[in-house]
Amino acid sequence: MFYNEDCILGSKKYLKSNSIDLIITDPPYGIDGDKLHRHYNRNEDNVIDGYVEVSSENYSKFSNDWISEAERVLKPGGSIYIVSGYTHLRHILNALAETDLVEKNHIIWKYNFGVHTTKKYISSHYHILYYTKKGAEPTFNTYTFYADFEKDSNGRSLNYQDREDVWIINREYKPGIVKNKNELPSSLLKKMILYSSKENDLVCDFFLGSFSTAKIAIGLGRQACGFEINKNAFDYQFEQIIKIKKGELLTTRRMVPSNKLLNKGKFINDEEISKITGDFRLLHSQSKSKKDIINILTEKYGRGYWSLSKIINQMSTTTNYEAEKLF
Ligand SMILES: C[S@@+](CC[C@H](N)C(=O)[O-])C[C@H]1O[C@@H](n2cnc3c(N)ncnc32)[C@H](O)[C@@H]1O
Repeated sequence: MFYNEDCILGSKKYLKSNSIDLIITDPPYGIDGDKLHRHYNRNEDNVIDGYVEVSSENYSKFSNDWISEAERVLKPGGSIYIVSGYTHLRHILNALAETDLVEKNHIIWKYNFGVHTTKKYISSHYHILYYTKKGAEPTFNTYTFYADFEKDSNGRSLNYQDREDVWIINREYKPGIVKNKNELPSSLLKKMILYSSKENDLVCDFFLGSFSTAKIAIGLGRQACGFEINKNAFDYQFEQIIKIKKGELLTTRRMVPSNKLLNKGKFINDEEISKITGDFRLLHSQSKSKKDIINILTEKYGRGYWSLSKIINQMSTTTNYEAEKLF
């Protein structure tokens, strides 16, 4: 459901505690968002009127109020991503520190079309604060875009690079399309949604703007809800979002190759056996079950469950490792 309301009042009225899987939101930055086009030197003809700003004096209280609501409505294990400029970042960090939410990453999103200045450095990044709620294991889909074994032409892991906390994602230039003042690019939204939710999960945006989070979430087979106080934006974008078919973006996704059984049936040398047994001991010392350890090693070594199980059982007889007692 979408509400043309203030998000703080609306959340109290309509959202149950512990009901939302993922919040992705981009609050007004308190820097005269209604004059943002001057900073970016862009033509405003297609931008919807009525963007609502928050004054600098109110920013701290405003952040505390909406962030404590966000914490209440998130499910245990739910995730929240907050996009922020640097001007009022401290108020958002302070408000987060007042909650029980757990800091996971402080992401830097670097984009093109920076704010052009000549007497200081050009600002071309935003902060994305990624936190989770205690009480359950958060969803984090490690292999969303790349399998463990995929490498670039220099032999560097693509999965590692994709999960670094500096994201270089360009803003979208949409000439002739009706839009909000400050729209988030779809690839940025896809990344957060796919890493931090499952199909059918409920994704909420407290500051919908052009409904970009909600549009991508529905396109990726999730459910969406949220608030936008500006009636012009709400009415226009509501008409657009009802045209989106749930899951329509899923068909365009690249299939991530599974490396699970890549090495099945191939000869295992002593070096690999020693790595496997070393990993086994390490994971076992972290109190993981035998089944979980073998599943992790299956993924890592591309070997079948039974061949790994055999190596581990042999390890227990040759090194007097009392596997039966341990599991
Ligand atoms: C930075 S924009 C969001 C942009 C959005 N992520 C997008 O991609 O289009 C912030 C939005 O919050 C809206 N807004 C401001 N105060 C609000 C409030 N108290 N409740 C709900 N919406 C609010 C503004 O009108 C503006 O559209």
